[in-house]
Amino acid sequence: MSSQSTPGGAPVKRLMAPDITAKKGVQPIVSLTSYHAHTAAIADKYCDFLLVGDSLGMVMHGFETTVPVTLDLMIMHGKAVVRGAKRSLVVVDMPFGSYEESPSVAFRNAARVMKETDCGAVKLEGGRHMAETISYLVKRGIPVMAHIGLTPQSINVLGGFKAQGREEEQWAAIEEDARAVSDAGAFSVVLEAMAEPLAERITKAIPIPTIGIGASAACDGQILVMEDMLGLSPRVPKFVKEFGDIGTAIERAIAGYAEEVLERTFPQVEHTYAMKQGVEATAKKVASKSGSGGRAGKPASRRK
Ligand code: KIV
Repeated sequence: MSSQSTPGGAPVKRLMAPDITAKKGVQPIVSLTSYHAHTAAIADKYCDFLLVGDSLGMVMHGFETTVPVTLDLMIMHGKAVVRGAKRSLVVVDMPFGSYEESPSVAFRNAARVMKETDCGAVKLEGGRHMAETISYLVKRGIPVMAHIGLTPQSINVLGGFKAQGREEEQWAAIEEDARAVSDAGAFSVVLEAMAEPLAERITKAIPIPTIGIGASAACDGQILVMEDMLGLSPRVPKFVKEFGDIGTAIERAIAGYAEEVLERTFPQVEHTYAMKQGVEATAKKVASKSGSGGRAGKPASRRK
């Protein structure tokens, strides 16, 4: 894993999988999904780990499910997040079809993800039936986060994005999944869309941290899809709390931009480049073109 440093030169230690495991019973684990360098850099200040989730297929690329997501897509976004985040552990999702066939196929693909992105761990979906693969990967140097409850890659078998464990007869099987991935060596496990009392029970029953999404406040940590909690997703599941309204802010900004382009009031003199020898002349020319004589205010974009 590459070493990073602060602007002042002090080294920043990136969290590793065992640091996440060690937080169980000590401090709640904060995490979010991230798919790009700039959101990773912001979330890095607050999160213990960032998940490059295969939800990016739906959130970023407009797919209906996560099934079409490829290894190359995960690697491309994984690299961006590792570049943006300096302190958080970066976990990259193994996409559908890249690990289920056999432990050795899973190892080959997970090793590629780790080598090419420099991430610190991978995540894969499945309980008891993936335990052998988890053990194979962990014994060969790949930290694995497990994911049970609602497993979106199995949407075509499940028949929909349905909450799991809402009937008590289902509990034993889901709890066995949790124990199996923990015994296999997973460093933590995501519990997605799971009946609240079951998530609490599993959290108490296993030694590794549970990361809830639509599960329980009693889980050892929480994760949300960043775009969902920012208010940027058109539809969100019941378990999402929108902590921001970025969608409205973006629309307002774009509408303002479009209006100024149509009115020819943008760009103004402060957004343009004068000729080196004729600053005054260029400023006058631009001002007379816009008809405004120049507008006070700061450029909205920080881009140079
Ligand atoms: O892909 C993803 O974003 C996830 C989270 C929902 C845990 O797996």
